[in-house]
Amino acid sequence: MLFWRVKPLDHILATAEKKSLHRQLGPIQLTLLGVGAVIGTGIFVLTAEAAQKSGPAMMIAFVIAAVVCGLAALAYAELASMVPVSGSAYTYTYGVMGEVIAWIVGWALVLEYAIGATAVCVGWSGYVNGLLNSGIFGLVAPGSLSLPTWLQTGYFSGGGFNLLAFLIGVAVTWLLVIGTSKSAKVNAVLVAIKIIALTAFIALALPAVQSSNMHPFMPTGWGSPTGGVGVLGAAASIFFAYVGFDAVSTAAEETKNPNRNIPIGLMGALGICTIFYLLVGYGAAGSVGAQPLFGADGVALDPGSPAMTAACALAANADKLVCSHEPLAHVIRLLGFAQVGNLIALAAVLALPSVILMMMFGQTRIFFTMSRDGLLPEMLSRIHPRFHTPHVVTVITGIVVAICAALFPVGKLADTSNAGTLLAFAMVSIGVLMLRRVQPNRPRPFRTPMAWIVCPLAVLGCALLFVNLSWVAKSVFVVWGVIGLVFYLLYGKRRSYLAPGNQEPEGDAHLEQPPKFHEGPDPGP
Ligand code: ALA
Repeated sequence: MLFWRVKPLDHILATAEKKSLHRQLGPIQLTLLGVGAVIGTGIFVLTAEAAQKSGPAMMIAFVIAAVVCGLAALAYAELASMVPVSGSAYTYTYGVMGEVIAWIVGWALVLEYAIGATAVCVGWSGYVNGLLNSGIFGLVAPGSLSLPTWLQTGYFSGGGFNLLAFLIGVAVTWLLVIGTSKSAKVNAVLVAIKIIALTAFIALALPAVQSSNMHPFMPTGWGSPTGGVGVLGAAASIFFAYVGFDAVSTAAEETKNPNRNIPIGLMGALGICTIFYLLVGYGAAGSVGAQPLFGADGVALDPGSPAMTAACALAANADKLVCSHEPLAHVIRLLGFAQVGNLIALAAVLALPSVILMMMFGQTRIFFTMSRDGLLPEMLSRIHPRFHTPHVVTVITGIVVAICAALFPVGKLADTSNAGTLLAFAMVSIGVLMLRRVQPNRPRPFRTPMAWIVCPLAVLGCALLFVNLSWVAKSVFVVWGVIGLVFYLLYGKRRSYLAPGNQEPEGDAHLEQPPKFHEGPDPGP
């Protein structure tokens, strides 16, 4: 039976109540938290990927992805305000659809968070390599600080070992192990840096827009049945740029008056980012052009593929937006503002690590919650005696993130992350409707407006984007899902605290919590 072992929502709430820590985040901090988690590699790097897939029509792709996220955010807001506890989609589905679906969602969230963090590592490396290649603002001769080419991109992008992506993965893991969390103040500064960088981009790019750059507007059409190309393929990829707003809901336990503030934070973050992304997409495509590169067969080259890398190595394509690993800085440099371009690159270099930190943090806390429910080995939720962090799960996550970052292209990683996220979003949307049926009288501080239209549309939108992901991402998703189900059948099903005969350990020892994201380092005993 599919919907078995539903963890009663009251039980989830009571457990959270028992361990809840300071509630200190208000609506503005929460919106900033969302914007801080959302703006990252998606807009700073994947703009080039979206252009390669759809040309100037990438702006439509930005809109489609935003609409799907907006619909899902409305569903998230209802559940997050009803169940303001950590664990995000995993916890909601456990309380509504039962353990099997919750496990599948939790397993998919690994793709969202861990592989998403990996993609941001690769995006960061593109910008740092760009700075090094330019001789850091021209302080030294261009090229004199460059890493060997084979250390600049991963093996599966036609390079060798993406050293900087690997190193940032290791560095962030270390920060998380020693208990670094981001203070709300640091977050606000980093958000300001990103907003200033995007504003500068828009201010310089929009006046340079020429309508001729918009033709042909849709050179690759809407998409193909196998996905990975066209406007819908671009929307499926650029969806990554919006991922992270659900971080707001995972902060529910740390939020003052979550019933009101969580929906404000979710929709506020999404609204602000959408406006910026549309302006950036329009500015990039309109100012320097965003036409894709085609292979000899007339088909647009697959971004991140060795064939694309080879095409981009040709002198004729050197300045193409679609070839840039640092597209926003590149556009501004092409427009003649070299130093502003460098400053935009610097902004990305400073701000992207916090997105990695946030995503890896989210990953460790989701594993932690699953382990606390007995679905993963308890060893994973072991807390370091000195640092008070879940060091085992953090190190395992960090090793995987760093190695994948060193080898794979950013677009494929982002697509894979999106596959997991889309499943989680769809499940949350279904969960809202199920809960309306099963528990119609439970208080809903925030009600998804027109839920019976919004939620099915969210599910359809997620399905549409999913089928338009690259086949690599869909294949990884399926293989990952099968591994997860086998693991559940062999382990979680018997060890779950909801399995017959099993009981949660007495006392609160097993509930010792690592520090929350915004509490700052744990002062220790
Ligand atoms: N939305 C985040 C980014 O674009 C994950 O990096």
